[in-house]
Amino acid sequence: MKIFSTALEVSAAVREYRRHDETLGFVPTMGALHAGHVSLMKQAKAECNRVAASIFVNPTQFGPKEDLSRYPRPFERDVKMLEDAGVDFLFHPSVEEIYPPGATTFVEVEGVSERLDGKSRPGHFRGVATVVAKLFHIVQPDIAYFGLKDAAQCAVIRRMVRDLKFDLKLAFGETVREADGLALSSRNIYLSPSERQQSLVLYRSLQRVAELVCSGVKDSACLIEEAKKILAAEAGARLDYFEIVDPDTLEAVQTIGARTLVAVAVYVGTTRLIDNIVLELQSLPSNDIHLISKKQT
Ligand code: PAJ
Repeated sequence: MKIFSTALEVSAAVREYRRHDETLGFVPTMGALHAGHVSLMKQAKAECNRVAASIFVNPTQFGPKEDLSRYPRPFERDVKMLEDAGVDFLFHPSVEEIYPPGATTFVEVEGVSERLDGKSRPGHFRGVATVVAKLFHIVQPDIAYFGLKDAAQCAVIRRMVRDLKFDLKLAFGETVREADGLALSSRNIYLSPSERQQSLVLYRSLQRVAELVCSGVKDSACLIEEAKKILAAEAGARLDYFEIVDPDTLEAVQTIGARTLVAVAVYVGTTRLIDNIVLELQSLPSNDIHLISKKQT
């Protein structure tokens, strides 16, 4: 696997791929890789001739009191994982390569960027959209891969690609979880053993909502109240948000519709964790609503 640190090196490699009519899949990351990231690389590998990944801990998406300086950076381990996943090249730029001194250009995706995580983390999605736009310009992928674990991020990127007419396709991968349901995250290593146990409350609250929807409850307020009871019962967890929204606009919905995003964010100790499920309903001839999947699409 080649490792590039400049946009020029990336462009030269990508030009070579194009000359041979090879398609390029791209998985942007901030490193501290886990099986969730690897599943996206594998998906890209199955669908494209070449696969590129990036590791860049993007300063503009961190708030002033967030974990930028302590974000894990196990670079050697990450390189090994990317090699094992069959990635062709890694783009690992410096902060100056992405943000030249004096850079003042940012991408704002209004509306969606102020909802869910964007509401709790002002400026976060401006940072995400800006860096992803820059990475798309540099890497020029045919298909870019994102994880549905970050459902609000997916909505922001979808909107940006549409609005700015990026000439690429987006692909979204299912959330990879531990056996007990905890969604994999680079931040899980911050959790102490007791916090690790407490963090299961996120998935438990989502499962409860899925169960209730299956049993016919469709009113969002009622579902949110039930979920909040479960979250409140876990003393170690402090709720940030529990919301039931449209997966594209991230606007709250009153009742569960054909496709609905149920999303939660919780602080366990000082670590902020997020998770979500997408509920898909299908009308049966009897007019009953039937939950066909909790699959995230
Ligand atoms: P990062 O948190 O490193 O995640 C990189 C990609 O992996 C994202 O698309 C994320 O949704 C996906 N991912 C994370 N955990 C996952 C899991 N458990 N299952 C499946 N996919 C998972 O998201 C970012 O980085 C950054 O915001 C980035 C897009 C790179 C911009 O800086």
